[in-house]
Amino acid sequence: MPWLIKRALATDSENQLQTFIGSLAEQFDDPTRDRNLVVRETLAQIMHGDSFENLNERAPMAAFSLDPRNITFEAEFYIATDQVKFQQVKPLLWLWKSLDLTPLGQSTHSGIQIRRMLAQRIFKKAGKNLKIFQNVEVSVGYNIEAGDDVTIHRYAFIDDIGGIELHDEASVSDFANIYSHTHSVLDMPDVTLKKTIIGRGVRVAYHATVLAGAVLSDDSMMGAMSLVTRDFEPHVIGLGIPAKPRIWKERGGDPAFDTLKVDSRSFERPSEIRANPEFNKDSPFKPKTDLIEH
Ligand SMILES: CC(C)(COP(=O)(O)OP(=O)(O)OC[C@H]1O[C@@H](n2cnc3c(N)ncnc32)[C@H](O)[C@@H]1OP(=O)(O)O)[C@@H](O)C(=O)NCCC(=O)NCCS
Repeated sequence: MPWLIKRALATDSENQLQTFIGSLAEQFDDPTRDRNLVVRETLAQIMHGDSFENLNERAPMAAFSLDPRNITFEAEFYIATDQVKFQQVKPLLWLWKSLDLTPLGQSTHSGIQIRRMLAQRIFKKAGKNLKIFQNVEVSVGYNIEAGDDVTIHRYAFIDDIGGIELHDEASVSDFANIYSHTHSVLDMPDVTLKKTIIGRGVRVAYHATVLAGAVLSDDSMMGAMSLVTRDFEPHVIGLGIPAKPRIWKERGGDPAFDTLKVDSRSFERPSEIRANPEFNKDSPFKPKTDLIEH
């Protein structure tokens, strides 16, 4: 028996919601429309029940913050951010973030559907039935590849500046953090981008943190509060800080796992990128760190 039951809104309400989402999608897909204008008008209507023009007359600063061109995201300050790609997705990210502050964004039914439509236009790949709950953060958004039936729960942080793959049926629990960049301990501006791979059916349990470059094989799981600093083999449950393999899921020859898509033992890891040109391999600085044994 499935864990989740079906819930529907009344037909009129559902139609109203679908009309709203469909019209927004149409406007975003129309190359003649400026996405910034679409977003500020939508937010003025939803947050203030008025047109942007009227709002701007009576409350100019309220109107100011609704226009994506007047706000900045942290990722815009990174040298590694592709500014052209980011400007394309920025209005959609601002709508996502702002709607999360409203009843429309907080409601599970409408929130998930609106974010799905936005993710399909922000992410590098968004598979079917993508479910993203409220108050999720991403860094640039355009470097996320999500397969089918992926779920991202409340307050998760997906740092995709170096790329994140979330394979089919992966689940990221509340308050989990998944990173794809690291800073040198000697020089903060020496940033390395490492793609992080979350395999098929992997569960990153609540409050877990996955550091950049980890390859979590299909059907592995990272326990609540774990700190993932390395790869994990298929079917393994990692626990603790740092996470160590502690439990093996016994699948008993289940044919569903005959073919693995992500297996850290053979996975071809994408190469790391030294993001700051000042710290490339020809640099005169030779960072060196020694472990202090206690
Ligand atoms: C992975 C998990 C399922 C393990 O639970 P379990 O199989 O019931 O494990 P047990 O309670 O039998 O514990 C086995 C051992 O692991 C330890 N352990 C269990 N969970 C741990 C965790 N998250 N971190 C560190 N150690 C943990 C136990 O202390 C015990 O250690 P011991 O053998 O030295 O006494 C659980 O930790 C977890 O993460 N649950 C996920 C919750 C979640 O995120 N849900 C998502 C909701 S959307």
